[in-house]
Amino acid sequence: MKNIVRTAVIPAAGLGTRFLPATKSIPKEMIPIVDVPMIQHIVEEAARSGVTRVVLITARHKEAIENHFDFNPELEAFLDDKGKKELAELSRSLGRLCQVIAIRQKNPMGLGHAVLCAEPAVGSEPFAVLLGDDLIDSDVPCTQQLMDIYQRESASVVGVMQVPPSEVNKYGIIGGKPINTKTWHVQQLVEKPAPESSPSCWAIPGRYVLEPQVFDCIKRTKPGRGGEIQLTDALQLLAQERRLLAYAFDGVRYDTGDRLGFIDATLAFALKRSDLRSGVVVLLQKHLNKNRN
Ligand code: G1P
Repeated sequence: MKNIVRTAVIPAAGLGTRFLPATKSIPKEMIPIVDVPMIQHIVEEAARSGVTRVVLITARHKEAIENHFDFNPELEAFLDDKGKKELAELSRSLGRLCQVIAIRQKNPMGLGHAVLCAEPAVGSEPFAVLLGDDLIDSDVPCTQQLMDIYQRESASVVGVMQVPPSEVNKYGIIGGKPINTKTWHVQQLVEKPAPESSPSCWAIPGRYVLEPQVFDCIKRTKPGRGGEIQLTDALQLLAQERRLLAYAFDGVRYDTGDRLGFIDATLAFALKRSDLRSGVVVLLQKHLNKNRN
Protein backbone atom coordinates (compact mmCIF):
# COMPACT_ATOMS: atom_id res chain seq x y z
CA MET A 1 0.00 0.00 0.00
CA LYS A 2 2.95 2.33 0.73
CA ASN A 3 3.59 3.02 -2.93
CA ILE A 4 0.05 3.90 -3.90
CA VAL A 5 -0.26 7.46 -5.17
CA ARG A 6 -3.55 8.75 -3.82
CA THR A 7 -2.88 12.49 -3.71
CA ALA A 8 -2.48 15.05 -6.47
CA VAL A 9 -1.20 18.57 -5.93
CA ILE A 10 -2.58 21.16 -8.31
CA PRO A 11 -1.02 24.62 -8.06
CA ALA A 12 -3.73 27.20 -8.81
CA ALA A 13 -2.57 30.36 -7.08
CA GLY A 14 -1.41 32.35 -10.13
CA LEU A 15 -3.00 35.65 -11.13
CA GLY A 16 -3.46 34.51 -14.73
CA THR A 17 -2.05 37.74 -16.16
CA ARG A 18 -1.40 36.02 -19.51
CA PHE A 19 -5.17 35.81 -19.94
CA LEU A 20 -6.28 39.32 -19.01
CA PRO A 21 -8.89 40.75 -19.29
CA ALA A 22 -10.70 37.39 -18.83
CA THR A 23 -8.92 36.78 -15.53
CA LYS A 24 -9.57 40.16 -13.94
CA SER A 25 -12.35 38.83 -11.71
CA ILE A 26 -12.54 35.08 -12.37
CA PRO A 27 -9.79 32.52 -11.70
CA LYS A 28 -8.10 31.51 -14.95
CA GLU A 29 -8.63 27.86 -13.94
CA MET A 30 -12.39 28.39 -14.35
CA ILE A 31 -12.15 29.45 -18.01
CA PRO A 32 -13.80 26.62 -19.96
CA ILE A 33 -12.54 24.53 -22.84
CA VAL A 34 -15.94 24.30 -24.59
CA ASP A 35 -18.11 23.97 -21.44
CA VAL A 36 -15.72 22.29 -19.00
CA PRO A 37 -13.49 24.54 -16.84
CA MET A 38 -9.78 23.89 -17.41
CA ILE A 39 -9.34 22.85 -13.77
CA GLN A 40 -12.06 20.20 -14.18
CA HIS A 41 -10.12 18.61 -17.06
CA ILE A 42 -7.07 18.46 -14.75
CA VAL A 43 -8.93 17.09 -11.71
CA GLU A 44 -10.63 14.51 -13.95
CA GLU A 45 -7.23 13.36 -15.24
CA ALA A 46 -6.11 12.91 -11.62
CA ALA A 47 -9.32 11.08 -10.64
CA ARG A 48 -9.15 8.80 -13.72
CA SER A 49 -5.60 7.94 -12.63
CA GLY A 50 -6.87 6.71 -9.25
CA VAL A 51 -6.23 9.84 -7.18
CA THR A 52 -8.77 10.33 -4.38
CA ARG A 53 -7.44 13.53 -2.77
CA VAL A 54 -6.64 16.75 -4.57
CA VAL A 55 -4.61 19.41 -2.80
CA LEU A 56 -5.32 22.73 -4.48
CA ILE A 57 -2.78 25.44 -3.83
CA THR A 58 -4.90 28.55 -4.06
CA ALA A 59 -4.89 32.26 -3.32
CA ARG A 60 -7.38 35.03 -2.59
CA HIS A 61 -10.31 35.23 -5.04
CA LYS A 62 -10.07 31.54 -6.02
CA GLU A 63 -13.13 30.33 -4.08
CA ALA A 64 -14.97 29.55 -7.35
CA ILE A 65 -12.63 26.58 -7.87
CA GLU A 66 -13.51 24.98 -4.53
CA ASN A 67 -17.21 25.64 -5.12
CA HIS A 68 -17.01 23.85 -8.47
CA PHE A 69 -16.01 20.61 -6.73
CA ASP A 70 -18.64 20.94 -3.98
CA PHE A 71 -22.37 20.25 -4.10
CA ASN A 72 -24.65 23.16 -5.00
CA PRO A 73 -27.93 22.16 -3.27
CA GLU A 74 -29.86 25.20 -4.53
CA LEU A 75 -28.93 24.62 -8.17
CA GLU A 76 -29.40 20.85 -7.92
CA ALA A 77 -32.85 21.18 -6.27
CA PHE A 78 -33.86 23.71 -8.93
CA LEU A 79 -32.79 21.34 -11.72
CA ASP A 80 -34.57 18.40 -10.02
CA ASP A 81 -37.78 20.47 -9.77
CA LYS A 82 -37.58 21.33 -13.47
CA GLY A 83 -37.19 17.64 -14.33
CA LYS A 84 -33.58 18.18 -15.48
CA LYS A 85 -32.28 15.12 -13.64
CA GLU A 86 -29.24 14.63 -15.87
CA LEU A 87 -27.97 18.16 -15.28
CA ALA A 88 -28.61 17.85 -11.53
CA GLU A 89 -26.61 14.62 -11.50
CA LEU A 90 -23.83 16.25 -13.56
CA SER A 91 -23.53 18.94 -10.89
CA ARG A 92 -23.56 16.41 -8.03
CA SER A 93 -20.99 14.18 -9.73
CA LEU A 94 -18.45 17.04 -9.51
CA GLY A 95 -19.02 17.18 -5.75
CA ARG A 96 -18.21 13.47 -5.57
CA LEU A 97 -15.19 13.46 -7.92
CA CYS A 98 -12.63 13.52 -5.11
CA GLN A 99 -11.86 15.05 -1.77
CA VAL A 100 -10.54 18.58 -2.27
CA ILE A 101 -8.21 20.19 0.24
CA ALA A 102 -7.40 23.85 -0.36
CA ILE A 103 -4.24 25.45 0.98
CA ARG A 104 -3.45 29.12 0.52
CA GLN A 105 -0.10 30.15 -0.90
CA LYS A 106 0.02 33.48 0.84
CA ASN A 107 3.10 34.84 -0.93
CA PRO A 108 3.67 33.69 -4.52
CA MET A 109 7.30 32.54 -4.49
CA GLY A 110 7.36 30.13 -7.41
CA LEU A 111 6.20 26.65 -8.38
CA GLY A 112 8.57 24.89 -5.97
CA HIS A 113 7.21 26.98 -3.12
CA ALA A 114 3.61 26.23 -4.21
CA VAL A 115 4.31 22.48 -4.11
CA LEU A 116 5.95 22.83 -0.69
CA CYS A 117 2.74 24.46 0.62
CA ALA A 118 1.08 21.04 0.07
CA GLU A 119 3.41 19.21 2.47
CA PRO A 120 1.09 19.32 5.53
CA ALA A 121 -1.67 17.65 3.48
CA VAL A 122 0.51 15.20 1.53
CA GLY A 123 2.66 14.02 4.45
CA SER A 124 5.18 11.29 3.72
CA GLU A 125 3.44 9.69 0.75
CA PRO A 126 4.27 9.84 -2.95
CA PHE A 127 2.11 12.29 -4.86
CA ALA A 128 1.36 13.58 -8.34
CA VAL A 129 1.68 17.19 -9.48
CA LEU A 130 -0.44 18.46 -12.37
CA LEU A 131 -0.06 21.99 -13.73
CA GLY A 132 -3.30 23.59 -14.81
CA ASP A 133 -2.10 25.27 -18.01
CA ASP A 134 -1.11 21.93 -19.53
CA LEU A 135 -3.99 19.91 -20.88
CA ILE A 136 -3.03 16.41 -22.00
CA ASP A 137 -5.44 14.40 -24.11
CA SER A 138 -4.66 10.68 -24.02
CA ASP A 139 -6.41 7.31 -23.79
CA VAL A 140 -4.52 6.35 -20.63
CA PRO A 141 -4.33 9.52 -18.49
CA CYS A 142 -0.81 10.98 -18.49
CA THR A 143 -0.67 10.88 -14.66
CA GLN A 144 -1.65 7.19 -14.76
CA GLN A 145 1.19 6.50 -17.23
CA LEU A 146 3.68 8.12 -14.81
CA MET A 147 2.20 6.29 -11.82
CA ASP A 148 2.71 2.98 -13.63
CA ILE A 149 6.42 3.78 -14.00
CA TYR A 150 6.57 4.92 -10.36
CA GLN A 151 5.02 1.63 -9.16
CA ARG A 152 7.33 -0.46 -11.31
CA GLU A 153 10.59 1.42 -10.66
CA SER A 154 10.02 2.90 -7.17
CA ALA A 155 11.47 6.18 -8.42
CA SER A 156 10.11 9.69 -8.98
CA VAL A 157 9.20 10.34 -12.60
CA VAL A 158 8.48 13.38 -14.75
CA GLY A 159 6.51 13.34 -18.01
CA VAL A 160 8.43 14.71 -21.00
CA MET A 161 7.75 15.64 -24.62
CA GLN A 162 10.08 16.71 -27.41
CA VAL A 163 10.02 20.41 -28.35
CA PRO A 164 11.85 22.38 -31.07
CA PRO A 165 15.15 23.98 -29.90
CA SER A 166 13.54 27.43 -30.23
CA GLU A 167 11.05 26.48 -27.47
CA VAL A 168 13.29 24.98 -24.79
CA ASN A 169 13.33 28.38 -23.04
CA LYS A 170 9.64 27.92 -22.13
CA TYR A 171 10.09 24.73 -20.07
CA GLY A 172 11.98 22.74 -17.50
CA ILE A 173 14.35 20.60 -19.63
CA ILE A 174 15.92 17.27 -18.70
CA GLY A 175 19.20 15.68 -19.61
CA GLY A 176 20.37 12.16 -18.84
CA LYS A 177 20.95 8.60 -19.99
CA PRO A 178 18.32 6.81 -22.08
CA ILE A 179 17.09 3.54 -20.54
CA ASN A 180 14.93 2.73 -23.54
CA THR A 181 13.26 4.75 -26.32
CA LYS A 182 10.75 6.31 -23.92
CA THR A 183 12.52 6.42 -20.54
CA TRP A 184 15.56 8.33 -19.23
CA HIS A 185 17.59 8.24 -16.07
CA VAL A 186 17.62 11.99 -15.37
CA GLN A 187 20.95 13.53 -14.37
CA GLN A 188 20.35 17.17 -15.16
CA LEU A 189 17.42 19.57 -15.10
CA VAL A 190 17.44 23.20 -16.19
CA GLU A 191 14.58 25.67 -15.90
CA LYS A 192 14.00 27.49 -19.21
CA PRO A 193 17.53 27.21 -20.65
CA ALA A 194 18.79 29.13 -23.69
CA PRO A 195 18.76 26.81 -26.75
CA GLU A 196 22.58 26.76 -26.93
CA SER A 197 22.99 25.60 -23.33
CA SER A 198 20.01 23.23 -23.14
CA PRO A 199 20.84 19.64 -22.12
CA SER A 200 18.27 18.29 -24.62
CA CYS A 201 14.96 19.09 -26.31
CA TRP A 202 12.94 16.98 -23.84
CA ALA A 203 10.62 19.30 -21.93
CA ILE A 204 8.48 18.77 -18.83
CA PRO A 205 4.91 19.89 -19.60
CA GLY A 206 3.60 19.94 -16.05
CA ARG A 207 3.19 16.30 -15.03
CA TYR A 208 5.18 14.75 -12.17
CA VAL A 209 4.92 11.78 -9.76
CA LEU A 210 7.22 12.48 -6.85
CA GLU A 211 8.50 10.89 -3.69
CA PRO A 212 7.92 12.95 -0.53
CA GLN A 213 11.71 13.49 -0.21
CA VAL A 214 11.22 16.25 -2.77
CA PHE A 215 9.84 18.49 0.00
CA ASP A 216 13.22 18.45 1.72
CA CYS A 217 14.88 19.23 -1.62
CA ILE A 218 12.57 22.23 -2.12
CA LYS A 219 13.44 23.51 1.36
CA ARG A 220 17.12 23.48 0.36
CA THR A 221 16.50 25.13 -3.03
CA LYS A 222 17.58 28.77 -3.38
CA PRO A 223 15.58 31.18 -5.53
CA GLY A 224 16.50 30.58 -9.18
CA ARG A 225 15.13 31.85 -12.47
CA GLY A 226 12.99 34.96 -11.98
CA GLY A 227 13.97 35.04 -8.28
CA GLU A 228 11.48 32.19 -7.67
CA ILE A 229 11.89 28.83 -5.95
CA GLN A 230 11.73 26.56 -8.97
CA LEU A 231 10.45 22.97 -8.79
CA THR A 232 12.89 22.13 -11.59
CA ASP A 233 15.86 23.19 -9.39
CA ALA A 234 14.56 21.09 -6.49
CA LEU A 235 14.26 18.12 -8.85
CA GLN A 236 17.93 18.58 -9.79
CA LEU A 237 18.74 17.95 -6.11
CA LEU A 238 16.37 14.97 -6.03
CA ALA A 239 18.05 13.55 -9.15
CA GLN A 240 21.46 13.83 -7.45
CA GLU A 241 20.37 12.23 -4.19
CA ARG A 242 17.85 9.62 -5.38
CA ARG A 243 16.70 8.19 -8.71
CA LEU A 244 14.65 10.39 -11.03
CA LEU A 245 13.21 9.10 -14.29
CA ALA A 246 11.67 10.87 -17.27
CA TYR A 247 9.02 9.23 -19.44
CA ALA A 248 7.86 10.29 -22.90
CA PHE A 249 4.12 9.90 -22.30
CA ASP A 250 1.59 9.05 -25.00
CA GLY A 251 -0.85 11.87 -25.61
CA VAL A 252 -1.40 15.28 -27.14
CA ARG A 253 -0.53 18.26 -24.99
CA TYR A 254 -2.15 21.70 -25.27
CA ASP A 255 -0.70 24.83 -23.68
CA THR A 256 -3.96 26.42 -22.57
CA GLY A 257 -2.06 29.26 -20.88
CA ASP A 258 -1.32 30.60 -24.36
CA ARG A 259 -4.08 32.17 -26.48
CA LEU A 260 -3.42 30.08 -29.60
CA GLY A 261 -2.91 26.94 -27.49
CA PHE A 262 -6.25 27.67 -25.84
CA ILE A 263 -8.01 28.01 -29.22
CA ASP A 264 -6.25 24.83 -30.40
CA ALA A 265 -7.58 22.91 -27.36
CA THR A 266 -11.06 24.40 -27.75
CA LEU A 267 -11.27 23.33 -31.40
CA ALA A 268 -9.82 19.87 -30.71
CA PHE A 269 -12.20 19.18 -27.81
CA ALA A 270 -15.22 20.58 -29.67
CA LEU A 271 -14.45 18.47 -32.75
CA LYS A 272 -14.23 15.34 -30.57
CA ARG A 273 -17.76 15.90 -29.25
CA SER A 274 -20.46 14.07 -31.22
CA ASP A 275 -23.03 16.75 -30.25
CA LEU A 276 -20.87 19.56 -31.61
CA ARG A 277 -18.63 18.19 -34.35
CA SER A 278 -20.79 18.77 -37.42
CA GLY A 279 -21.88 22.22 -36.22
CA VAL A 280 -18.29 23.27 -35.58
CA VAL A 281 -17.18 22.05 -39.03
CA VAL A 282 -19.92 24.18 -40.65
CA LEU A 283 -18.84 27.21 -38.61
CA LEU A 284 -15.17 26.75 -39.49
CA GLN A 285 -16.00 26.49 -43.19
CA LYS A 286 -18.18 29.58 -42.98
CA HIS A 287 -15.42 31.65 -41.37
CA LEU A 288 -12.72 30.35 -43.72
CA ASN A 289 -14.87 31.20 -46.76
CA LYS A 290 -15.59 34.66 -45.36
CA ASN A 291 -11.90 35.34 -44.88
CA ARG A 292 -11.08 34.16 -48.40
CA ASN A 293 -13.38 36.78 -50.02
C1 G1P B 1 6.29 25.80 -15.35
C2 G1P B 1 7.56 25.08 -14.86
C3 G1P B 1 8.33 24.50 -16.03
C4 G1P B 1 7.42 23.59 -16.83
C5 G1P B 1 6.19 24.39 -17.30
C6 G1P B 1 5.18 23.49 -18.01
O1 G1P B 1 6.67 26.98 -16.03
O2 G1P B 1 8.35 25.99 -14.12
O3 G1P B 1 9.43 23.77 -15.56
O4 G1P B 1 8.10 23.05 -17.93
O5 G1P B 1 5.50 24.98 -16.19
O6 G1P B 1 4.09 24.20 -18.50
P1 G1P B 1 5.61 28.16 -16.37
O7 G1P B 1 4.97 27.78 -17.67
O8 G1P B 1 4.64 28.22 -15.25
O9 G1P B 1 6.43 29.40 -16.51
